[in-house]
Amino acid sequence: MTGWNAADIPDQHGRTVIVTGATSGLGAEAARALAAAGATVILACRDQDKARATADDIGGGVEIRRLDLADLSSVRAFAAGLDCDIDVLINNAGVMAVPRGTTADGFERHLGVNHLGPFALTGLLVNRVRGRVVTVTSGLHVLGRVRADLQFERRRYQRWLAYAQSKLANLLFAYELQRRLAATGRRTVSVAAHPGVTATEGQRADTSLQGKVLAGGPAQSPAMGVLPLLYAATAPDVRGGVCIGPDGFLQRHGYPTVVGTSRRSRDAERAAWLWRRSEELTGVRYAIERIGVA
Ligand SMILES: NC(=O)c1ccc[n+]([C@@H]2O[C@H](COP(=O)([O-])OP(=O)(O)OC[C@H]3O[C@@H](n4cnc5c(N)ncnc54)[C@H](OP(=O)(O)O)[C@@H]3O)[C@@H](O)[C@H]2O)c1
Repeated sequence: MTGWNAADIPDQHGRTVIVTGATSGLGAEAARALAAAGATVILACRDQDKARATADDIGGGVEIRRLDLADLSSVRAFAAGLDCDIDVLINNAGVMAVPRGTTADGFERHLGVNHLGPFALTGLLVNRVRGRVVTVTSGLHVLGRVRADLQFERRRYQRWLAYAQSKLANLLFAYELQRRLAATGRRTVSVAAHPGVTATEGQRADTSLQGKVLAGGPAQSPAMGVLPLLYAATAPDVRGGVCIGPDGFLQRHGYPTVVGTSRRSRDAERAAWLWRRSEELTGVRYAIERIGVA
């Protein structure tokens, strides 16, 4: 698997892929590579001007649809407006170590945008995704704790811990989704992916010392950092329930491979608890159908 790169993406003609957060960084890079391989890529973005600029830059094979993950009414409108089946849903959009804030639904911002929004989106689309759900996490999930106090109401707010919690939630979600898909015999698989340390707006946003230590250091290019996402989305030999990340030192750089994630991320009891809480908070209840069963 080492050395796998964008030239190895199988032909994507006839396939439809949703990329959330495609206006910059890894999302834009993923959309570009998938469109170049022949996919129809739906750029699911909150800022329509930025999305149009990205679409112009890519040059073809893309559609723009509005999606604000910080607003569940936008998530519902996006899902209701989709009139096609999807081969791959890439839950990429995210905020990184932002100051305390809340979404339109009153959720702590990292939890809302990075976990609850994608949880609701995936739940609303799950019976229309034929191939894969790819959820983008981070190596920093190791710092995260998914606590009963999900919204940092009773613990002191620390932006990196809030980010890390949301990225651990991404893994708990991706692995639990795989268990649930497998239990219904569905061919659709759920895979996690992370880009190591990649030079993007998000990665550069926190210029504090803490930010530089946690997200800093030599960063690889977006074209390199996106490879684990692309591998997770398209490589034929990917199994559900794994995480794809870079194969280099501390998973910070390199070519895509299956990587280990923390013991906490594999805690099935915690994952089931988070799933129930996420359904309560978003009002989206998963009803995974036995369509296209193996
Ligand atoms: N870069 C790294 O080193 C690194 C490391 C580990 C994990 N990651 C993960 O990689 C993913 C992509 O991050 P990036 O580094 O490419 O950062 P980025 O350049 O800041 O891109 C983030 C994307 O998410 C979108 N987004 C933010 N809030 C949104 C919302 N409410 N609704 C819809 N879209 C929203 C942004 O849209 P706008 O343009 O409208 O803001 C942008 O398109 C994230 O999940 C991040 O956690 C990145």
